[in-house]
Amino acid sequence: MSTAINETPPSSCYTEEQELLELERKYCSWGDTVHYLDPPKFFDRAEGHYLYDREGTPYLDLQMWYSAASFGYGNRRLNDALKNQIDKLPQLACQYLHTEKVELAAAIGRLNESKFGLEGRVHFNVGGAQAIEDSLKIVRNSTGKNHVFAFMGGYHGRTLGASAITSSYRYRRRFGHFSDRAHFVPFPYCFRCPYGKKPEDCGLYCVDQFARNFDTEYNSFWDPKTNESEFAAFYVEAIQATGGYVIPPPEYFPALKKVLDERNILLVDDEIQMGFYRAGKFWAIENFNVEPDIIVFGKALTNGLNPLSGLWAREELISPEVFPPGATHSTFSSNPLGTAVGLEAVRMMEDENYEEITRSKGAYFLAQLKELQRRYPKVIGDTDGMGMALRIEICGHDGYEPDRELTDRMFAEGMKGDLDARGRRTGLVLDIGGYYKNVFTLAPCFDMTEDEIDIAVELFEQLIRRCAPERV
Ligand SMILES: Cc1ncc(COP(=O)(O)O)c(C=O)c1O
Repeated sequence: MSTAINETPPSSCYTEEQELLELERKYCSWGDTVHYLDPPKFFDRAEGHYLYDREGTPYLDLQMWYSAASFGYGNRRLNDALKNQIDKLPQLACQYLHTEKVELAAAIGRLNESKFGLEGRVHFNVGGAQAIEDSLKIVRNSTGKNHVFAFMGGYHGRTLGASAITSSYRYRRRFGHFSDRAHFVPFPYCFRCPYGKKPEDCGLYCVDQFARNFDTEYNSFWDPKTNESEFAAFYVEAIQATGGYVIPPPEYFPALKKVLDERNILLVDDEIQMGFYRAGKFWAIENFNVEPDIIVFGKALTNGLNPLSGLWAREELISPEVFPPGATHSTFSSNPLGTAVGLEAVRMMEDENYEEITRSKGAYFLAQLKELQRRYPKVIGDTDGMGMALRIEICGHDGYEPDRELTDRMFAEGMKGDLDARGRRTGLVLDIGGYYKNVFTLAPCFDMTEDEIDIAVELFEQLIRRCAPERV
């Protein structure tokens, strides 16, 4: 053990944690995101929207495992579904059928029939990025083309295929290319419009710019002789998640879809983070009145209990004639623990009015954030939200220059666990996203009451006052 550890005051819990940290430093890969925080943080217990550290201190969680645990830690109904399945059919090779798999696929298929008037099928996998990989296979298989569009600021996962269509170069830098890199198109991030326009009078200039790519074959995308694009699909997040919970203007997607439809380019909708009511509707894309050709989902389908992801594709893209048995497979793809919880979660979403819950609580939360922005204009440059997907953009004195350093300090301060929640020692769990890593992306638990939302905002205000006292 290092000298520093021998010098620490005696406390059984503290010493044990130090030992674990030493072991982690030596034996765990640092290739995941644990070391974004220094020192990394241990948690011991979770309940509702609170995480508890090894000393029992509660931390109010405003990110809920990047929106994977939207329905609350230890959700009784979903936990029971998992427990029942463990005693009934805990394991089964995915080459055999089980009831929950079929019922879950049918539930999602029927939902999409009613929402979009489209027939389709569901294919399961275990992680978001793997489901994205499956969707790339479906796109390539049905169009015979490799090239796709994706958005600047988009995030689709870190497998080799998914990182090829994720905009940040840092996810590819060490590994070279395996799959074709997407052509990245500016997202309508109106607070920082990539074209320097204002949403009030831009006339959707960004869609026009995209459409101009097809004006002539010399722009490299289009063959006018065959009326065919070299690009098979456009991968979108209706609301950019890792990109900073950026919400496009309502007219954007219908206009983009028109350009795609006229060129026979598929729309692939990544709902991995925003699906399952995070943005006020079952699918976030429903807020924008367009019909996707493929939907990819994951995270909150099982409330983070047992990994299950998947995709839904229109029948003509995934029918057994075009996507035959064995076209894609993974050992754990439709694992029965995952499908059992997923099925119960979808039933729960049918029983409860999550549209109303997320819309009303989200509106309440956003109003508090707007008030905070009004009071701290030298810290908060922008706030926005749709359903319970909320953003707070941390900026410099001018309310515009991204302030990544202050964002990092506020994040770390929340993790100290010594804020004051009306007399109770508490921490605040936040997540940082955004193009400049200066956005707090809030994905609160759907169960939070208005009073608890008030407490969350009070804790956030304490972070501002502690970390930027000269700007309050
Ligand atoms: C929109 C989106 N797509 C894909 C992924 C990748 O999912 P996973 O981390 O489960 O591979 C994520 C994860 O954050 C995501 O937010």
